[in-house]
Amino acid sequence: MRQYVGAIDQGTTSSRFIVFDREGRIIVCKQREHAQIYPRPGHVEHDPLEIWANTQGVMRAALEAANLAPQDLLSIGITNQRETTLIWDRRTGKPLHNALVWQDTRNDRLVAAYQRDGGRDRFRTLTGLPLASYFSGLKLRWLLDHVEGAREKAEAGDVLFGTIDTWLIWNLTGGPEGGLHITDTTNASRTQLMGLESLAWDDSMLAAFGIPRAMLPEIVSSSQVYGDTKVPFAGVPIAGILGDQQAALFGQTCFQPGEAKNTYGTGCFALMNTGETPVPSTCGLVTTVGYKLDGKPAIYALEGSIAITGALVQWLRDNLGLIRNSAEIEQLAQTVADNGGVYFVPAFSGLYAPHWCESARGLIIGLTRYAHKGHIARACLEATAFQTREVLEAMATDSGIPVRELRSDGGMVANTALMQFQADILDVAVVRPKVTETTALGAAYAAGLATGYWRSQDDLVRNWGVDRRWEPEMDAAHRDRIYAAWGRAVKRSFDWAEP
Ligand code: G3P
Repeated sequence: MRQYVGAIDQGTTSSRFIVFDREGRIIVCKQREHAQIYPRPGHVEHDPLEIWANTQGVMRAALEAANLAPQDLLSIGITNQRETTLIWDRRTGKPLHNALVWQDTRNDRLVAAYQRDGGRDRFRTLTGLPLASYFSGLKLRWLLDHVEGAREKAEAGDVLFGTIDTWLIWNLTGGPEGGLHITDTTNASRTQLMGLESLAWDDSMLAAFGIPRAMLPEIVSSSQVYGDTKVPFAGVPIAGILGDQQAALFGQTCFQPGEAKNTYGTGCFALMNTGETPVPSTCGLVTTVGYKLDGKPAIYALEGSIAITGALVQWLRDNLGLIRNSAEIEQLAQTVADNGGVYFVPAFSGLYAPHWCESARGLIIGLTRYAHKGHIARACLEATAFQTREVLEAMATDSGIPVRELRSDGGMVANTALMQFQADILDVAVVRPKVTETTALGAAYAAGLATGYWRSQDDLVRNWGVDRRWEPEMDAAHRDRIYAAWGRAVKRSFDWAEP
């Protein structure tokens, strides 16, 4: 009998269902985009019901396209955009508000108030995270403060909190009729409500943020059989959950301390495996759970989270109309030999790692009459590589391990000019694996390990292979000069937003 493992990959811009075979090859992939809702500057929302409908749609469509029956799937793993926060009614399944997307900064005053009382890093030792608008805890607090009746209902256990993994699993396993209310350690580690070492909701954090325990899901490992699907088809075990960046780390088989990957998606997220002990960051990174297999100790990671990289290409397409599709940016950028002195700091949600500056805003600097759209396109791509260098430098300092080779994945790795520039600006080789859908693959691996599809992590390592490698070629003096100019541009973006 044919058997496969499926993965739901619910990302910031789309939902996908991908079916993998034992070699980690893609059998079928279906994808649907959902609306990005921007009610006002700094606010970013998703409609949770649209996400749930799209998820069911791609699951059905994938099976149909590949002529598969639900029984052909041994298990399903889930991976998701992290931090995005929602609350819903336990009885009706109706969300009380649109989901607050990870990029949303509407809680910035709340963040500032907590920072005034003890500093940005006051919860870092306990949770691994700085105070920032990014993480779920203070997004949830905003919802409890602003949605009428939410707090009372949450205290009574009638309103549930979840990140997207939790929302989907609750619906997949029956919703109001006994749906499982769970999240895994990787997603929970992004809420700022979980103790990084205890791997449990922390009472002192719940008290500090005013979050009722009754609304929180149970924290489970990233790889075990949680329960069976009921919708959109019944009887397939759900056996893996990983936040999408941790899933990519797992899919890239970065199982040894020091191994690192960078995913080039909406944002860029560089993660380095640091083994069984969480490594605190003093350079502006985040300490997070990398993954936790059932019955095994948690494996931690250092993460450099960058909010806007691929989203900047979309912005050039959708907001400026400079390109018709994302692929065109590479051609446009190659119409010029260099950036012509133009730098683009995409601080659209403030700046995340390593700066953590809520009040930064985007800027384009260095414009002269010489500059044209090719330079803007080039500056946009270079911003991705410069931001990646910032977080990798921080990672080397925090971990004491220099990154010797960067495993890359995500949509932007199709852009070979960007990958070459990345190797140049890092002065480190960049490697693209054969399967670049590593996020979905990581979730499938977690589910497949729990259900015996793969016997061990060694099986997964054997599946990993290099597709292409870029070696640094740039002259060192040039590299230093343009990176220094980037640093000056970043400083100019600070403290622009109105207080
Ligand atoms: O932390 C946010 C991250 O999980 C989003 O990833 O790939 O959905 O943009 P992506």
